[in-house]
Amino acid sequence: MTSLTLLGIESSCDDTAAAVLRGAAGSADILSSVVIGQTALHADFGGVVPEIAARAHAEKLDDCVGQALDSANVTLDDIDAIAVTAGPGLIGGVVSGVMCAKGIALARDLPLYGINHLAGHALTPRLTDSVPYPYLMLLVSGGHCQFLIVSGPNDFRRLGGTIDDAPGEAFDKIARLIALPQPGGPAIETRAKDGDPRRFKLPRPLLDREGCDMSFSGLKTAVLRQRDTIMVDGALSAADQADLAAGFQTAVVDVLAEKTRRALSIYAPMTDVRSICVAGGVAANMAIRAALETVSQEFDATFIAPPLTLCTDNAAMIAYAALEQMGSRPPEGMTLSARPRWPLDQTAPAMLGSGKKGAKA
Ligand code: KG4
Ligand code: ZN
Repeated sequence: MTSLTLLGIESSCDDTAAAVLRGAAGSADILSSVVIGQTALHADFGGVVPEIAARAHAEKLDDCVGQALDSANVTLDDIDAIAVTAGPGLIGGVVSGVMCAKGIALARDLPLYGINHLAGHALTPRLTDSVPYPYLMLLVSGGHCQFLIVSGPNDFRRLGGTIDDAPGEAFDKIARLIALPQPGGPAIETRAKDGDPRRFKLPRPLLDREGCDMSFSGLKTAVLRQRDTIMVDGALSAADQADLAAGFQTAVVDVLAEKTRRALSIYAPMTDVRSICVAGGVAANMAIRAALETVSQEFDATFIAPPLTLCTDNAAMIAYAALEQMGSRPPEGMTLSARPRWPLDQTAPAMLGSGKKGAKA
């Protein structure tokens, strides 16, 4: 197989990222992966502000690409193709990345591939662990939540997803409600260790409904109600915080575990070599991981969690998705356009809501 060197660019949310990858589908090396975050820029606003994000991407992209080339010890002369996230995401940011990629492709006469951000996440287990198709993928981040059966570089079947908030978004909002810092996920996980998950009765949304769809926004309202019954002079004790955090986290674990069981029961008959993979920042949560591993064992499936730097937004996954897809599709070149919404599985029903991090596609 020919080895190619690709430059990847990602700017669909609040991370400006560029990476250089060398290899072929199924076996590629990450020569560099640079991620410039924007957390501080959005900190005062309780979420990502699209205009601020777009401007920051436009300002940082050139520098980010330069850093990726330098730390890979290559120049644009060594690059064979460019891959850029063309959606879904916050459109200003996606446009910034696409324009930057087009500029380089045009100046260097290089093929340009527009990549679906979710395909980047979904194909990551092939990059990190050479996982064979078909595998089951659970994307759980601040902006995404869906189950996919990945049967090929362009073959994604969505089994279900959140109908409102993404789990990471719920962790962040609950943290704010109980006066824990952002990002809420790690703060809640730490505080939950000292809490009693059974003190508060919290719902397990949509478990009574068939299928793999999930909902996390009702859980947030339920936590708010419980909080209001125990607050004294607008404040919570550390023990109350811990019990609310533990109760919430356990509810999310229960929902994800049961929905994963259902997704695995659809996927399991498809193959004897079963893998379930996770991606997204929420996959860092040890309680969630442990529950998913236990469920995987019921189906004789291997549980695979790529390193966190490749689970969260990065450009190596975008370059890698192009390596996987280029054998079966042409580059778009200058006709490439940015798409705010871009479902991976065109046949699945549209998803609702757009979340703090943009369209969930
Ligand atoms: O994938 P990511 O870095 O960004 C996008 O959403 O695109 O995920 C960030 C999300 C945040 O909402 C954060 O609170 C959540 O992942 N997160 C966690 C944990 N670490 C990060 N959620 C639960 N438990 C954690 N340990
Ligand atoms: Zn993402």
